[in-house]
Parts: sequence; C-alpha cells; structure tokens
Amino acid sequence: MIHLLRVCLYNTDPEASDELTRAIQELNFGRLVAELNAPENLAAALHEQGINLVFFHLDPDPDPIVEVIEQISARYPALAMIAISHKTNPDAILAPMRAGCDQFVCEPINSTDLASAVSRVASKRLLTPPKSRCICVTGASGGTGTTSIACNLALEIADAANRECVLVDLDLQFGDVAVNFDCEPRYNLYDLAMAGSDLDRSVLSSTLTTLPCKVAILSRPEMIEQREAVTPDTIHRVIELLMGSFENTVIDVPRELNPWTAAAFSHAEHIFIVSQLLVPSLRHAKRYYDALLRTGIPEERLEFVVNRSDGRSGRVTVRDLEETVKKPVYACIPNDYQFVARSIDFGRPVASLDRSNPVRAAIGKMARKIISETATQPIQKDERRGFLSRLLPKQL
Ligand SMILES: Nc1ncnc2c1ncn2[C@@H]1O[C@H](COP(=O)(O)OP(=O)(O)OP(=O)(O)O)[C@@H](O)[C@H]1O
Ligand SMILES: [Mg+2]
Repeated sequence: MIHLLRVCLYNTDPEASDELTRAIQELNFGRLVAELNAPENLAAALHEQGINLVFFHLDPDPDPIVEVIEQISARYPALAMIAISHKTNPDAILAPMRAGCDQFVCEPINSTDLASAVSRVASKRLLTPPKSRCICVTGASGGTGTTSIACNLALEIADAANRECVLVDLDLQFGDVAVNFDCEPRYNLYDLAMAGSDLDRSVLSSTLTTLPCKVAILSRPEMIEQREAVTPDTIHRVIELLMGSFENTVIDVPRELNPWTAAAFSHAEHIFIVSQLLVPSLRHAKRYYDALLRTGIPEERLEFVVNRSDGRSGRVTVRDLEETVKKPVYACIPNDYQFVARSIDFGRPVASLDRSNPVRAAIGKMARKIISETATQPIQKDERRGFLSRLLPKQL
C-alpha cells in the first residue's frame, strides 16, 4: 500500500529549482526522489524508482513539456501528475490538463494551494492503490498437486483480477511450472541472480515470459546446478520488485524449510499448504504447519487446501484435517486425475481445456476468495483522514 508518496520534479529551468524543491519538501507526505530535466531520465526514474507523483514545471517553454506529459500519461495511466507555472491564462492551464495532468498550481507557489492540489490528487488516485499480494503454494507431501494448483491459481487470479499475475517457480532444481504451460522461457531466475546489483525492474520485466492468459512466468534455472547461484537475497529482491510492479504474485514453493523458501514466505500474505486426505499427508501437513509457526509466521497467514478430495468418505476426512490443525480448510479441490494429467501433458491449464470442470471451478472459486478478501477491506475513514492530514504541509 502506498502510504508515503515517492515524488519527482521535472524541471528544465535551473533558476526555479531551489524554490520548487523547497516547496515540495515542505509537504509533509513523502520523499522527493529526483529532479529531472530530460524525458529519458524521467522514463528511467519512473521505471526504476516506484514514483507515484510527478510535478511538471512548465516554464520557461511549456510546449515540449506538455508533449512529455502527454507521452508519460499514455504510458503510465496510474501516475499522478501536477503542473506548475507562472502563466495562468486559460490556454496555459488547459494544455497540461488536456495532456493528462490532474491539477495545476500557479507560481509563486502558495503552500496551501500546493498541499490541497496534492491531497485532491491523492484522494482521486493514490488512496485506493491496488494491494500487492504474494501467495505461496507449498505441499505437505511430494506430489500432492502443489504445482498444478499454483499454475491454475495464477491463471484464475489473472482472470478474476483482469490483470497480469506473476507466477514464480521456486522449485529451483526440479520445478515444472513452465512445462505446465508448455513454454520455454528465454530467461529465468538464474539470469536475475547473475544480474547482481544491476537487478532492477527493467531487468526483471525483460526476464518474465508473459503468456496470452495473462500469466507472467518467472521460471527456475535451466540447469540443476545453477541453483547455487540463486541466493536467498536474490529471492527477496526479486519478490520485492515483483510486488512493486504487479498486484498478484503466486509462488510455487518446494516442500523445504531453508533460507530460500523462508525468503518467499516472509513476503506472503497467504501460505497455502496443499494436503491430500491420506494419513501421511495429514501428518506432514501438521508438522509443516507447526514448523512454519515456529519460524514466526503469523498463524492467520497459513491456510490449508485439500487436493484430490473426492467427497467419498475414506479413512481421513476434511474434518480430521481441520481438527488436527485447528482451523478451517480454505479450499477443497476435487479429484480428477485424467483431466489434470491431460492438462499437464498438453501444457495447457485446466481452464483452457474445460471451463466447467469441477477442478477448474474449485480453483476459480479459491482465486475469487483471495481477491475478494482484500478487495472488501476498504481503507477506513479514519485512516483516510490520517493519510490526508499527513499530506498537508507542516505549518498548516
Ligand atoms: N485435483 C487433482 N486431481 C487429480 N490428480 C491431480 C490433481 N492435482 C494434481 N493431480 C496429479 O498429481 C500429480 C502431481 O501433481 P503436481 O506435479 O502438481 O504435484 P506437486 O505437489 O507439485 O509435485 P512435486 O512434489 O513433485 O513438486 C500429477 O500427476 C497431477 O496430474
Ligand atoms: Mg511441484
């Protein structure tokens, strides 16, 4: 969530620089990250520094700056933009507004005007940012269906949210996320590890393989031994960057407790432990759950998903699992081996084979539950007020 704005100033007039930066810094709301005077530098800052708001100083020559505003607003529709100028005739105000600015502030700058322009932009654009979710899917036992669920969940989340969902294969040696989508990504996590300190949003976005179903895959290294190069720090950095760019990140996490999986878990809003209704799976589900709790993960982030539940009463029931772990199961995915195996063999997600299949329906329902949980948590009125008051300048 954006609580602190990252601001930059686009200004081609060196003489105005001091006054403008002072006025912006007086606003008690965030950080002036950069002052820029060339479109290519602005594009780089927007790409790499997570800027929320740009002030465009239009003087002394507004036309080329209005052109920059036009290009930037087409490319970054969510970005908040405020124009500043000495010229206040109707044309001078209309041109930047038509190009995409949200507000216009005239010079010399009055701090109250500037603060209220920012707070109007904030209430329009910035107070309802899409929440960034990281969802880890891991298995209580080998072969429980973790990868099948992670892949199809990413697709269903992309579908429900109507925007790209990232899917990361953290099974660094034997992961088969890409195989499940029948694709051969050109770049993968190993390339990101090799990028070292050059790793930023642009490197990351060129590493993702985005499919027509709106799933953007970040695959495991090509060679088994390349795992050694991918450090837990790389995982942290990659997830941070992904969460800064995408609303939803799903991670297929191998059934291991180590610094790599811990790095992923530390970012997760939901950690789904996939279990089958078999005695060994149930035992491991409980052991895994207890171990994750001992690492300090809050209990409410850990959830259980039953896979291959066929509704018939076997030795172990959903209730047994719920009684063992003392919490309700989050989702039950039915058993349909032929259908899921066919989907994996064809490298096509279950939804693309048969949208009405019960396996697909259950994963779709799980995706909508995840999305709606956070969507139905509106920002509290008091929180909004608090946020807006923090936007106001210190002296008000
Ligand atoms: N809902 C389901 N119904 C029937 N079969 C399923 C279902 N989900 C997964 N399977 C089957 O289970 C097998 C293992 O699936 P998958 O590879 O997704 O498991 P995994 O937990 O990721 O395995 P690994 O531990 O090797 O990573 C596959 O053959 C798949 O077809
Ligand atoms: Mg797997």
